[in-house]
Amino acid sequence: MESIKKRMEELEIIIEEANYNYHTLDKPTISDYEYDKYLHELKDLEEKYPHFKSKTTPTQKIGGVVLDKFKKVIHREPMMSLSNAFNFDDLTSFDEKIKKEGFDVTYDVELKIDGLAITLLYENGILIEALTRGDGITGEDVTENIKTIKTVPLRLKEPLDIEIRGEVFMPFKSFDKVNLEKIELEEEPFKNPRNAAAGTIRQLDSKIVAKRDLDMFTYTVVNPESYNLKTQAEVLEFMSTLGFKVNNYSRTLKNINEVIEVINEFDKLRHSLPYDTDGAVIKVNELELYPQIGYTAKAPKWAIAYKFAPEEVETKLIDITFQVGRTGVITPVANLESVLISGSTVSRATLHNEDYINNLDIRIGDVVKLRKAGEIIPEVFKVVLEERKDTNPFKMITHCPSCGEELIKESVDYFCINPNCKAQMVNKIIHFASRPAMNIDTLGEKVVTQLFNHGLLLDIKDIYLLKNHRETLINLERMGKRSVDKLLNAIEESKNNTLDKLLFGLGIRHVGAKVSKTLLEVYPTLELLSKATIEDLQTIYEIGPEIAKSVVSYFKSEYAIKLISFFKENGFNMEYQVKVVDKESNVFDKMFVLTGKLPTLTRNEASDLIINAGGKVMSSVSKNTDYVLFGEEAGSKLKKAHELGIKTITEAELLEMLKNE
Ligand code: IVH
Repeated sequence: MESIKKRMEELEIIIEEANYNYHTLDKPTISDYEYDKYLHELKDLEEKYPHFKSKTTPTQKIGGVVLDKFKKVIHREPMMSLSNAFNFDDLTSFDEKIKKEGFDVTYDVELKIDGLAITLLYENGILIEALTRGDGITGEDVTENIKTIKTVPLRLKEPLDIEIRGEVFMPFKSFDKVNLEKIELEEEPFKNPRNAAAGTIRQLDSKIVAKRDLDMFTYTVVNPESYNLKTQAEVLEFMSTLGFKVNNYSRTLKNINEVIEVINEFDKLRHSLPYDTDGAVIKVNELELYPQIGYTAKAPKWAIAYKFAPEEVETKLIDITFQVGRTGVITPVANLESVLISGSTVSRATLHNEDYINNLDIRIGDVVKLRKAGEIIPEVFKVVLEERKDTNPFKMITHCPSCGEELIKESVDYFCINPNCKAQMVNKIIHFASRPAMNIDTLGEKVVTQLFNHGLLLDIKDIYLLKNHRETLINLERMGKRSVDKLLNAIEESKNNTLDKLLFGLGIRHVGAKVSKTLLEVYPTLELLSKATIEDLQTIYEIGPEIAKSVVSYFKSEYAIKLISFFKENGFNMEYQVKVVDKESNVFDKMFVLTGKLPTLTRNEASDLIINAGGKVMSSVSKNTDYVLFGEEAGSKLKKAHELGIKTITEAELLEMLKNE
């Protein structure tokens, strides 16, 4: 027994070291394979011998704790924010004020990391609490989520009682990955890495947080004098020796002119960094002067944040090409001279649509300004007119670049409506086979295009007829027996997918992964769904007129009718398993309408609670409504409920109804 405990301690140390070397120092010492092996061994032992599981075990980095809400906690020391400087004059006056008070100071300059402030409390060297800033006085306890961040030590290199503060952020690489997934699922992508980090930290399921690859730079020790620290430079060094990740671009400088020079360097540097910075933080280096220099109500007078102008770069527009999406929509794309922005090299950018190009008068050959507005693909937002040479005004194409069909204009977009258009079909098939849809392994862009060109895959249903062409497939380039069988197996396997994946895969405009589920919760087969009218669909919570119209018009088409009978005849799973719920529950099958501002729950939280307990949430009150859940400033829906004699309930009454769930 003792030897098992010892082995577990040994594994903890090995994994902790490996984490530190890999994530904090960026110098891996063991292979991923070895790392996984040790981690598995420790996880297995922890399952078998839970009483030996250490409080600081690195297996916590994988997450697993699910909370129902975050606890509010009062900060031991308030978390202040900083005053801002928007230009160098603001910095000079910051310096002059300090000098006028007679202080002789040097400055520490750091990058301002664009994320969210978090404070970490260690007792005896063990992380016991992590809080958000909140309003500066009270924060939220996000300890379980913070524990999943690889660069946050669960145990310090010394057994200290200490509070450390810093910025949690999402590196561009993880941000792009998360947003790509969101876009695939047709969910709204995060606007920028800061929102993504903040949104992730507010996740109640720490497993999701663990997958998002957040990171943290620390920049403050609370009560540094207790650790005999004299300057901010020493603070940074000290945190580093304790095992924290500290940004290594900080500099100690003699005067404000040197500070300004370094900020100019930072401003150039930031385009190539793998994380987002929105400025520089300038701090008096001598900690003993802080109480004397003092504080305003909100911020210290010994520090200031200099804000960079939003990141933009200039480059040349070489050409404008056109992409045909799976719905037939034509998107103009800027082909650019390669340029570095937000840590990645960019040579293409979206131009959205014809109006966008004309409004900005963007022309081939122009020098244009580019920014990364949250999306993965940056956008051209301005032309540098002073540099315009010989150019011609932009002219939208009139025919599909793929099949030559004449384009149709609908609102601001142009569409190719040829059902046999190659680009459209290829994109439709790629979408159908993609991971969040039917998840057919290896049926990606290259293979779909190859099979399309061989006439083997001209439509979605052809995917399921490929098994009749096994020999032909095996003889194709880059194919072979094993990969063909793997592909054919994955195709057959996909017929068992849940119906929401199939519905999403159809690529109906405005019907993303979440909307598919919402629709099927109410209409659990495609047959039922195809009979619903625009009005029927609009009574479902979160289904607006655009989605409703698009669904109805899709199911009316000859193409959809044929495709759906094909699915039925070929053994696809055609019934959606509506969430298994307690049929005895008070809310089972009851129709709710929400109105007004609830005291503690958001509207989304309340509707999730209802749906998870088997109830339904609709957007408008009718005689079929069972309950109207109302909060402050409830309007016409509450009035209508009274008129129709429908029962109205408060949040507290809802929670009472759900208390056994
Ligand atoms: S020092 C009294 N250093 O910027 C507050 N803050 O605008 C001391 N931030 O709330 C904060 N990088 O969230 C400091 N190197 C850095 C920072 C930094 C980012 C954030 C932090 C702070 C906000 C102030």
